[in-house]
Amino acid sequence: TKPYVYMTRKMPASIVEKLEAECDVGMWEKEEEPVPEEVLEKELQTADALFCTISDPVNKENINQAENLKIIATMAVGFNNIDVEAAAARNIQIAHTPGVLSETTADLTFALLMAAARRIPEGIEVIKNNEWGAWAPFFLTGQDIHQARLGIIGMGRIGEAVAKRGTGFDMDIVYHNRSRKPETEKEIGARYVELDELLETSDFVCVMTPYTNETHHMMNREAFQKMKNTAIFINSSRGGTVDEEALFEALKNGDIRGAGLDVFENEPISADHRLLSLPNVTALPHIGSASENTRWKMAEMTANHILQGLRGEKPDHLVSL
Ligand code: GLV
Ligand code: GLV
Repeated sequence: TKPYVYMTRKMPASIVEKLEAECDVGMWEKEEEPVPEEVLEKELQTADALFCTISDPVNKENINQAENLKIIATMAVGFNNIDVEAAAARNIQIAHTPGVLSETTADLTFALLMAAARRIPEGIEVIKNNEWGAWAPFFLTGQDIHQARLGIIGMGRIGEAVAKRGTGFDMDIVYHNRSRKPETEKEIGARYVELDELLETSDFVCVMTPYTNETHHMMNREAFQKMKNTAIFINSSRGGTVDEEALFEALKNGDIRGAGLDVFENEPISADHRLLSLPNVTALPHIGSASENTRWKMAEMTANHILQGLRGEKPDHLVSL
């Protein structure tokens, strides 16, 4: 009998067919609604492989009941929704999709940076609300991007791709990371600084770290208070790295100038989220890697990881602990 793969989201036929060539496939048939937790729990009790997304909590309880599970492949680079220790304890492999989405996510991060700096969403609102009046000297004036200091916290693949974009705008690039990246320093001209110096001197503070116990709420009240009051905060990694209450206060009190956010602590947020009540917040619904090309590549890569895992081959991109 063929191994059983459960897919937590409706995927295009060609992806499903690829798996069906070697597996029996079960799938949550909705594209825009995550699988209910009780369905996921039940499917995991028999599945040999799981194809999942960032919105599926693959927790310890589920993993411990998954008698046959050999591989969890997530269609994402971030895997904070999966209990990796519980999986490791049961020799279940975890695969993700690094690299393939780095440039696409950097494009979006830079778009967010530019939109927040130049108040693009506010400008769009002004026109739509029929509020464009006579020319005014300081109407919708924002922050310069060129030659400003770009501070990147977390210099992984995506951080590097953001930094590279900054060089095209003649930005002064500083970074903070667990380890120094001499290659990146040479190639991009980025300078390593302590976190405090990055916060205190950057015009744009960009968080690009994975979400872990260590980075939980690393952007707290203290961190925002260290930032320049003209600075703009950008987050396109994970919402959990930010204390949103502290961010709200910082934006409201003028401790910082604005924020561009593609991620939130509890997604999806709704229109009554406090941060959305502030005009200096540019918010997007977690679309960092959402280009057509990249999402196809991520889906194909995830299907490949499943096939590799079930054949007993080493999946190309295993999460390393
Ligand atoms: C998306 O947020 C991802 O981790 O790929
Ligand atoms: C993702 O690919 C990262 O390491 O930043």
